Parts: sequence; structure tokens; C-alpha cells
Amino acid sequence: VKTVRTVADLRAELAPARRGERSIGLVPTMGALHDGHLSLIDRARERCDVVVVSLFVNPAQFGPSEDLSAYPRDEARDAALCASRGADVLFAPPLEEVYPAGFASEVAVTGGLTEPLEGAARPGHFAGVTTVVAKLFNMASPDVAFFGQKDAQQALVIRRMARDLDFGVEIEICPTVREPDGLAMSSRNAYLEGAERGRASALRRGLAAAEAAVAAGERDSATLVAIARAEMTSAGIEPEYLELVSADTLAPMTHLNGAEALVAVAARVGRARLIDNTLLRAPEQGNETGRT
Ligand code: PAF
Repeated sequence: VKTVRTVADLRAELAPARRGERSIGLVPTMGALHDGHLSLIDRARERCDVVVVSLFVNPAQFGPSEDLSAYPRDEARDAALCASRGADVLFAPPLEEVYPAGFASEVAVTGGLTEPLEGAARPGHFAGVTTVVAKLFNMASPDVAFFGQKDAQQALVIRRMARDLDFGVEIEICPTVREPDGLAMSSRNAYLEGAERGRASALRRGLAAAEAAVAAGERDSATLVAIARAEMTSAGIEPEYLELVSADTLAPMTHLNGAEALVAVAARVGRARLIDNTLLRAPEQGNETGRT
């Protein structure tokens, strides 16, 4: 894998591919790569001729009391992992390459998608994400960019931005990768100490309990949320939010109808603030004509 640090070098590196109409895949990351990221790189490798992984811990998406300074960083390890999965380019710019002196612009998706859930818990977070992702799209001009379903709201927000602003980039959302006990892979899992690691798996157990309740016929959102919450609180986890919303609009849903629902949770476990989610859809009910 070739590491490049400037936009000019990135463009020069990708120019032959662009001239040759070879497809470019971008996997944006903040480093501390885990199997979730590697699954995105694998998918990009499958679909695209040239695979670019970006590694940039983006200060604009961290709140003042968040973990920017503690965020795990190990570029040498990340570069080795990128190489092992066949990525072509690692774009690891320094701060001033992305935010030069006098930087004064912002790209923000406004309205419903950025207000609830993470948007309410982390003011300014999504504007920080969309600003840097817009810049990465302009820097690399990828054909396809790959994001994880673990950050379900981020994926929706980025898809909306790409569509609204005509980036001409296809956004592919890849499935959440989990530890054997169900804990969603996250760079922030590194903050979990001792027994916290075991307790953290209750997030997934709670979501799985909601899935099981839907399979058993439950349709009421408040009940489904209560079922999920009970699993989490029994492990000593008090969710910061735990909500059942439309998977398309993130608007609250009072009951599962035919539409796809997202159950999203955020919770602090020790020093780690973890998020996870699952998609739910009630199987269609038979109607009086006997169709199902
Ligand atoms: O998901 C992440 O790691 C970050 O939010 C992203 C998309 C790389 C933007 O900094």
C-alpha cells in the first residue's frame, strides 16, 4: 500500500486510474482499524479497480468534552492491515492539509436526519462528519464509498448529502461486524476495561431480544423498546437513548407497520460511549383475501 499525505499527491496517484476509466473505491476511516473496517476494504477490493483507504481523525466531529485526544492512533499497524487486504493507497493527511489556516466552510445536512439520536446527543457531530466526507469525496473523487451499518444514522446522512449535492458517488452500506459475543466492532471498544467488556455485549442482547419479540408477534414500539432496555439494564447499562424509528426518515414509529424500523441505542460503558442498532420489519400480515 502506498501512503500519501497531500491532496495533490492523492490526485496524482489516482490520475492514471481516472484516465483509464478504472473505478475508484474509497473507505473513509479514522484509523484504529478493526474487522469492521477490513470488511469495508474487502468489499471495496471486490467492487473497485483501485482502493483508497483514508485515515484521518477528524477533530470537527468531536465535541469539546469528547475523546479526540484519547482516540486510538497507530498508523503503522493500520498501514500493515490495509496492505494485507490489498488496498492500493492509504491517504493519511496531516491536520493542516484538511483544515488549512483560515478554513471557514461547512457542509451540513439539515432537518430530520441529523436532529434525533446521535444528532441530539452530539451537537455539531454530523456537520463535522459531512464536512470532512464532502472534502474526502472531492479529494479522491471515488465512484463508490463504503460505510458501516453500525453507524446507521451517519450512513443515512452521508447518502443524503451525496444525493442532495450531486457528488456522483455511490454510497454502499456494509453489514455490522461483531465479536463472537455480539458486541459490534468499534475502535472505542479499546476503552472497555475488565468486566465492562462482558457487560457491553448486553447492547446486542437487547437488540436481539427486540428482534425475537417481533418474530413472536410483538408490534408495539414502546413494548419492543422496553424489552430491549430490560436486557441492557440487567447488565447495568442505562442507555443514553434507545429508540425505534423509521429506518428511512428516523421519525419515531409507534408501532411496526410494513415499513422498516431502526432500533438505535447509545450507552456509556465505563469510559466508552458505544452505539449499535438493528433493523426490524414486521412480516406482512395475511389479509382477508388470503394473500400473505
Ligand atoms: O465513521 C467514521 O469513522 C468517521 O465518521 C468518518 C466517516 C471516517 C468521517 O470522519
